[in-house]
Amino acid sequence: MKILVTGGAGFIGSNFIFYLLKNHPEDEIICLDALTYAGNRATLSAIENQENFHFYLADITDAQAVKNLFEIEKPDIVVNFAAESHVDRSITDPGLFLKTNILGTQILMDNCREFGIRRFHQVSTDEVYGDLPLDRPDLLFTEKTPLHTSSPYSASKASADLLVMAYYRTYHLPVTISRCSNNYGPYQFPEKLIPLMILRALNNEPLPVYGDGKNIRDWLFVEDHCSAIDCIFRHGKEGEIYNIGGNNEKSNLEVVQTIIDILGKGKITFVEDRKGHDRRYAINAAKIKNTLGWVPATDFIKGLTKTIQWYVENNIWWGPILKK
Ligand SMILES: NC(=O)c1ccc[n+]([C@@H]2O[C@H](COP(=O)([O-])OP(=O)(O)OC[C@H]3O[C@@H](n4cnc5c(N)ncnc54)[C@H](O)[C@@H]3O)[C@@H](O)[C@H]2O)c1
Repeated sequence: MKILVTGGAGFIGSNFIFYLLKNHPEDEIICLDALTYAGNRATLSAIENQENFHFYLADITDAQAVKNLFEIEKPDIVVNFAAESHVDRSITDPGLFLKTNILGTQILMDNCREFGIRRFHQVSTDEVYGDLPLDRPDLLFTEKTPLHTSSPYSASKASADLLVMAYYRTYHLPVTISRCSNNYGPYQFPEKLIPLMILRALNNEPLPVYGDGKNIRDWLFVEDHCSAIDCIFRHGKEGEIYNIGGNNEKSNLEVVQTIIDILGKGKITFVEDRKGHDRRYAINAAKIKNTLGWVPATDFIKGLTKTIQWYVENNIWWGPILKK
């Protein structure tokens, strides 16, 4: 099977490519990535010469470039990770988020229609559901929770999800969507909470926490997200949406304190809250468990310890990023 992975030089996309090469060596992997600030070719250097891996430098919003790639490679499966992914950046530059996350998805799906594929899988986020109150731990997002977005980022992802379902209904494009909670693990760009805090602590800098730090997120180790997507595009039903979660709700403060405890250093400082900051995300992942048998495998403390260890040992990866 030939699998096109877009955004494969980013955090989750690269981990997904490593997961596929390890667990399905019979598959051929094509990576398409525009190498924005979040994409890093060095992440893929260990697999660059593997026969069943090919990299294309291209932008998913460039219709001609995407068409050329489809003409040459004729992928069987497309898994779309390519996106602008940082909420704070979407607040300062919403236009880029709409272009990449919505228009880019449309261009990919138009090519999927033209060339024929077995599955188009859209990697989405739990942020499309908006947020939940802190005092109602009984409430969780299910796949039927109405979309209720807060940031230009989540609005662009929700719009793409609607478009994906429209292509399923209108053109019978064989699609699936996954909506996942916050990921952590190796190769995450150090603007996101966990790597940012690890690197600041390692560099003896204060650890900036938004607002009162009580905002709650559900955390999933990236390898578990990869195994869930693998399971969905191979065994999931066309036209279905699957929530993916880690059963790991933690406040930002708890996460940062745990990093300090594991590293044995770091000092928290509270900073002005993010505009429109969502209070709580919590996933009900019963559908993927009951229909596909997928459950997360990694305990939060083990996953976090592994992640911290990776950053401690891989200055060679993050050093040049921090210098930029
Ligand atoms: N990180 C999380 O916690 C999380 C949680 C749920 C869902 N998601 C979703 O998963 C996907 C991947 O997230 P991530 O954290 O790995 O993001 P990331 O920012 O680390 O990586 C994004 C990748 O997409 C590439 N890219 C951006 N614009 C592009 C374009 N126009 N054409 C081609 N490539 C382009 C970048 O170069 C980069 O390699 C995103 O769609 C995101 O919405 C992320």
